[in-house]
Amino acid sequence: MKSPLYGYFFILLPWILIVIIMIDIDTKRTVQRTTHFYLSHFSKPQRRVLPTIYAITPTYKRAVQKAELTRLSNTFRLIPQFHWIVVEDSNARTELVSRFLAHSGLQCTHLHVPTPRRYKRPGMHRATEQRNAALDWLRMHRSSKNPGVVFFADDDNTYSVELFEEMRWTRKVSVWPVGLVGGGRYERPLVDKGRVVGWYTGWNANRPFPIDMAGFAVNLQVVLENPKAMFKRQGSKPGMQESDFLKQITKVEELEPRAANCTKVLVWHTRTEKVNLGNERWRDSIHIEV
Ligand SMILES: *[C@@H]1O[C@H](CO)[C@@H](O)[C@H](O)[C@H]1NC(C)=O
Repeated sequence: MKSPLYGYFFILLPWILIVIIMIDIDTKRTVQRTTHFYLSHFSKPQRRVLPTIYAITPTYKRAVQKAELTRLSNTFRLIPQFHWIVVEDSNARTELVSRFLAHSGLQCTHLHVPTPRRYKRPGMHRATEQRNAALDWLRMHRSSKNPGVVFFADDDNTYSVELFEEMRWTRKVSVWPVGLVGGGRYERPLVDKGRVVGWYTGWNANRPFPIDMAGFAVNLQVVLENPKAMFKRQGSKPGMQESDFLKQITKVEELEPRAANCTKVLVWHTRTEKVNLGNERWRDSIHIEV
């Protein structure tokens, strides 16, 4: 019952194995090449000290909080020389966020400050106190010896890894487009000969800086040299948080356009849909953190 196919099989077997091994070696080579590309790419500026990126993320307790923080941390782990300043809107640090940050593998600073009750109304600015607490922390704990860049990374956005290398060498204030914001597909600074000359925005272009919180980064030294620069509640109209802050530290003529002269979208104001918890009928016998 010995079919001739058996014979063929045993003759071919060594050859099949050789082919498999060759493919495997080739894949490993590709991985090595890719790794080498990234290392040489990122190590170019490392001859100077790589400035630290300080991303300030205000956050508050809600059903999607951990999911949002997870999306952010998975991006941030890919960024070299990165420091995450997470500021909770709460009277104390929550266990969920503390545990989350402890396991994130990121260099973190965990702060908290509650938003006064009178400001917790629709139409009021959000996260003003939290962003200011992070700026205060930087002014207390960093000095002219620390090269760095400050970026306001709200937890409802999606960030491309590329964005962080665009902002890293910000001299004063750098700007770029933001996707899915202002009632349009994107907003962006208009650039001519490497200078910002206007704004493409769907909404109130007459603001001094019609730009989203995710559309700019500030050199840490600028934050330190302007100790009074803060996000304001008093006298700040809706949608003017960014303008009111940037007005204190820079002028439009000084802005540094990034992301290919502001023609590439590398950050999106995605906003997670409000979740429906209406079908939670009974209490599970165990407690699971979501
Ligand atoms: C941006 O514009 C300037 C001035 O027109 C030009 O020299 C530069 O190459 C442009 N940069 C990119 C990345 O397109």
